[in-house]
Amino acid sequence: MYKIQNRRYIGNKLKLLPFIDKVLDSEGIDFNTCADLFAGTGVVSEHFLAQNKKVCINDNLFSNYVFYNAWLSDKEYSPKKISKWLDYYNKSTDFIRDNYFSDIFSDTYFSHSNAKFIGSVREHLETIKESLTQREYCILLSSLLYSADKVANTVGHYEAFLSSVPINTKIELLPLEIKQYNYPPIITCNDANVIAGKVNVDLTYIDPPYNARQYINFYHILENIAEWKKLPVSGKTLKMPRNEKKSNYSKSKALNSLTDLVSKLKTKYIVLSYNNTYKANSEASNNKIKFNEIKELLYKFGTLKIYDSEYKFFNSGKTFFDGHKEFIFVCKVK
Ligand SMILES: C[S@@+](CC[C@H](N)C(=O)[O-])C[C@H]1O[C@@H](n2cnc3c(N)ncnc32)[C@H](O)[C@@H]1O
Repeated sequence: MYKIQNRRYIGNKLKLLPFIDKVLDSEGIDFNTCADLFAGTGVVSEHFLAQNKKVCINDNLFSNYVFYNAWLSDKEYSPKKISKWLDYYNKSTDFIRDNYFSDIFSDTYFSHSNAKFIGSVREHLETIKESLTQREYCILLSSLLYSADKVANTVGHYEAFLSSVPINTKIELLPLEIKQYNYPPIITCNDANVIAGKVNVDLTYIDPPYNARQYINFYHILENIAEWKKLPVSGKTLKMPRNEKKSNYSKSKALNSLTDLVSKLKTKYIVLSYNNTYKANSEASNNKIKFNEIKELLYKFGTLKIYDSEYKFFNSGKTFFDGHKEFIFVCKVK
């Protein structure tokens, strides 16, 4: 069975959940409603849902939206129907034929037979869509995406594929270990700056990308399978057209975007994760927003405390990059 965290995702905060809890505890932050505007894998939202919070979950990638609907929604699904179809995909070969995905991706990110399987399941899912609830469709699609990710010929993301021959282990679609939560989340797939002004919550968690590496470039294959628009691809790394999914947070307008976002928020607390890749050698890995810029920005909106992952907090003073990696900024909004 898959758990929500069983995927490789750059910048996911699974390991930092205890750090987030500790910071919120030590600040005595009591909240009932929250928004996770750059939710990625959804593990932070899941963590809050499990603590009986009411959560708004957002990310601009459609594949992530599919995952939230599968894992975190309260909408109906039939476990029986899900296992019937997973069984069919795992055991039958009736539905397998050459397809968009195998034509393009065979022997690149996936072996030929795995690319054929992935594309065939995806194609078949469209043919049974009418007989599924939206949640069932998202659950089956998530199982396919998590399973594909397991056998991908990559270092963990799809910026490029490895030059080695892709592993040809047969893909098995596993069920998702779905939990129940007390409150249904609000799930959106939009630019965080659009959502920012539309929610009114106690706490807003902000975890954007900080460098020039675009998430859509890392996860274009999952997005391609999830959307299934069968778009033409280009270049050596076989990416589909994706300009509208590129994040302003990975461009030179990053600070302007964050300023705009924060000024739109209707919230009592802003909790922002920041990781310091300040000393990175490549330009693409350098942070677009500097530590001090975030500090100056958030000071304008309220009382600010900054924690590092060694759990010390700083009110002011010089910057302290050495030996530190993860920070949490907590702003109690005026
Ligand atoms: C650092 S990751 C978040 C990781 C997440 N907290 C987790 O634990 O998995 C940043 C996320 O922001 C999303 N993103 C980037 N720009 C965005 C934007 N303008 N609006 C909404 N989401 C955006 C990316 O797709 C990515 O999933």
